Amino acid sequence: MTKPPVGSNRTGRKLGQKVKKGKLKASSRRWIERHINDPYVQRAKLEGYRARAAFKLLEIDEKHQILKGARRIIDLGAAPGSWSQIAAKVTGSTDDDIRVAAIDFLEMAPLPGVRILQLDFLDPEAPRLLVEAIGGAPDLVVSDMAAPTTGHQKTDHLRTMHLCEVAAYFAVEVLREGGHFLAKTFQGGTERDLLNMLKQYFRQVIHIKPGASRSESVEMFLLAKGFKGRTTVADAEEEG
Ligand SMILES: C[S@@+](CC[C@H](N)C(=O)[O-])C[C@H]1O[C@@H](n2cnc3c(N)ncnc32)[C@H](O)[C@@H]1O
Repeated sequence: MTKPPVGSNRTGRKLGQKVKKGKLKASSRRWIERHINDPYVQRAKLEGYRARAAFKLLEIDEKHQILKGARRIIDLGAAPGSWSQIAAKVTGSTDDDIRVAAIDFLEMAPLPGVRILQLDFLDPEAPRLLVEAIGGAPDLVVSDMAAPTTGHQKTDHLRTMHLCEVAAYFAVEVLREGGHFLAKTFQGGTERDLLNMLKQYFRQVIHIKPGASRSESVEMFLLAKGFKGRTTVADAEEEG
């Protein structure tokens, strides 16, 4: 089970630590306290993952088996790289035979078996470069992209939803038949048109809130499983 080691803290660091009041702003102090006391952060450190986000993907996979058998994976919004670490492991990707492509406009430290593109996913060249990097159609497209926050919540949500939508259309364009698409979204945020499009192309479309996703966050994940293929859907449309 991908559950946090609640209570038993194997990093040796005590949970429930407080940061001394000083020059820090109260909001920064609260953020640091939450971070150092977060069991997923501690577990990520212990298991060698670059981010606690690793446990969101592992937990979703545990229930929905999206990683099993994946030979090529594209990771959108990949930095610092914990999902790419998992992707490289499950695909057996190596520097001689790259099967994982990761994109982020932030710099990301190199990872064996992962081709990293430091680029905006919305750049028109990004789709081609990602597919070329893995030398074929992916079995899985994952997106943990979140737009940089502006402080205006509605704007931030709209921007992240836009990224989710562009990622979904990209997935439909590039996935291998039978493949899956996973993307970050927000509670109640997925547009009906986008859901309808995904339902047309995938056998199952669901929303998931993994335990590793903070309960106070409106973050959710949209999972579209079992890509039916582009021609199958086009044929069905033609037949009316
Ligand atoms: C939550 S983090 C991803 C964490 C990652 N899944 C991991 O496991 O380490 C979201 C990332 O999305 C990236 N991002 C947001 N918008 C993007 C865009 N348009 N193109 C590329 N990356 C983007 C951000 O720079 C950020 O690094």
